[in-house]
Amino acid sequence: MTRVALAFSGGLDTTVCVPLLEEEYGYDDVIGVTVDVGQPAEEFDEAEATAEALGLEHYVVDAREEFARLCLESVRANATYQGYPLGTALARPVIAKAILEVAEEQDCTGIAHGCTGKGNDQLRFEAVWRDSDLEVIAPVRELGLTREWEKEYAAEKDLPVEGGSGGDWSIDTNLWSRSVEGDDLEDPNYVPPTDIYAWTQDPSDETEEIEITFENGYPVAVDGTEYEPVELIEYLNELAGSYGVGRTDMMEDRMLGLKVRENYEHPGATTLLNAHEALEGLVLTQEERQFKQQIDQQWSQKAYEGLIDAPLVSALEAFIDETQKRVTGTVTIRFEGGQARPVARDSKFAAYSAEHASFDTETVGKIKQEDATGVAKYHGFQRRLANEAIAANADEEVELATDGSGDDE
Ligand code: ARG
Repeated sequence: MTRVALAFSGGLDTTVCVPLLEEEYGYDDVIGVTVDVGQPAEEFDEAEATAEALGLEHYVVDAREEFARLCLESVRANATYQGYPLGTALARPVIAKAILEVAEEQDCTGIAHGCTGKGNDQLRFEAVWRDSDLEVIAPVRELGLTREWEKEYAAEKDLPVEGGSGGDWSIDTNLWSRSVEGDDLEDPNYVPPTDIYAWTQDPSDETEEIEITFENGYPVAVDGTEYEPVELIEYLNELAGSYGVGRTDMMEDRMLGLKVRENYEHPGATTLLNAHEALEGLVLTQEERQFKQQIDQQWSQKAYEGLIDAPLVSALEAFIDETQKRVTGTVTIRFEGGQARPVARDSKFAAYSAEHASFDTETVGKIKQEDATGVAKYHGFQRRLANEAIAANADEEVELATDGSGDDE
């Protein structure tokens, strides 16, 4: 008996994959796997109910802890892609690994997803699965299915598909972010109605301040109360969401080169990312901050690609670990006008001396104001010479080769 494991959500795409894997790919048996990375309870109910109606053997794997830890790693890398905190991207390798484990335990010879051939998720899933010997199957992509065709096929086969929880939008939710795309949102010039938002209220005049504690770059407590990663993220999503923090409406460049119009909500992520960056601003030196921007950007790029296990990422993390040894302290965040704004920061590792920087002190230790005079004389010296030379020769005609002269061919 041949078995195939399917990444199963209970939505239209993955539901039509169930009979197709038998009819078109010749498998005797399909098992569905849903991985919990913090989706709302209704999604599991929907998956459960659909699986039952299909007579599908269904497994649910709880990966919230592992996923939450990865999200907090991303905070240490100040990770965003074109402004988006990477919720979907970070979740995919975690989900893919969990499904692969079930597939292997259940003696499957195939593994399948319901992603289309246009998005990023097909690439992220398959990067993990193609490390194994299982046959990787992507029915929607391989059979060229459209949503219209899927709806007709589902009706014909009497498959249990309802409108889905989010109307015609395609929604992807996990602990770190909620993404809404598709349907009328595909028009970049269309202003989204507020009912696309589920995590964030429209900002009001209310404000609130909280203090976040970091240890080695990891957020560990809010207002002195310690939280485990999952609880911390859930708590901040709720709190910051009530102040309208963390909405992003953007054009995103996908890996295949296509642009997509995306709407995201990520109140907890925005709060933690802003706070973390503020603390780095206090403790890291200028040169560390500047270099780390490049490291963070590379980390984010690999995360977007779903390639978080690349050797490059380990190397980047070696640098990140070294810098985060001093990212210990507290940051006060004020929720105000839809923002999570750092308004205070404190660390015993501050690379800052109020005494030295202050306008109110003349001499501190060995440094006096007048010591800067020599530096001021040299600052910009080379460009002064260059500009003087340009000015001195300004009236000379300079001949420019404009038409390929000097080109022998
Ligand atoms: N474009 C985003 C990414 O690739 C998120 C896509 C989420 N999917 C969805 N059906 N809303 O990371």
